[in-house]
Amino acid sequence: IERTLVLVKPDGVQRGLTGTILSRIEAKGYRLAELKQVEASRELLEKHYEEHVGKPFYEPLVEFMLSGPVVAAVFEGHRVIEGFRSLAGTTDPTIAAPGTIRGDFGRDWGVKVQQNLVHGSDSAESAEREIGIWFA
Ligand code: GTP
Ligand code: MG
Repeated sequence: IERTLVLVKPDGVQRGLTGTILSRIEAKGYRLAELKQVEASRELLEKHYEEHVGKPFYEPLVEFMLSGPVVAAVFEGHRVIEGFRSLAGTTDPTIAAPGTIRGDFGRDWGVKVQQNLVHGSDSAESAEREIGIWFA
């Protein structure tokens, strides 16, 4: 069965949207296989975001992810990677479609990093890599 790593980022946890977000993923039909709340270390985040090293948003992104607890989950189901990314909406929450998690609950707060509530793996390879990092 296909699996994906979902993170409720610090903005989602801080705003009390964890339950709502997990509930929407379950309501779409995916199975919650693993769940925990974590205060991520810089080392863990540097591994998770290694593809973004050197980009202008990299350091603000890592700092943002260190700013509060994160909820990490593994969801499973046929085509869950694609299905969750569709449910999450596009990266920029200002233009993410209404009906998506980012589109319904996210906006631009005028800060350096895009606070867009959730992360979802973008391929089967990233999913297995990321699940190994967060659920070692
Ligand atoms: P994730 O599911 O979080 O990985 O989002 P994504 O796959 O839609 O985006 P990507 O992997 O390209 O970027 C990871 C995260 O970096 C995003 O979720 C944003 O929080 C942030 N980010 C990406 N692109 C930009 C950008 O152009 N500007 C800023 N400020 N932040 C960005
Ligand atoms: Mg990504």
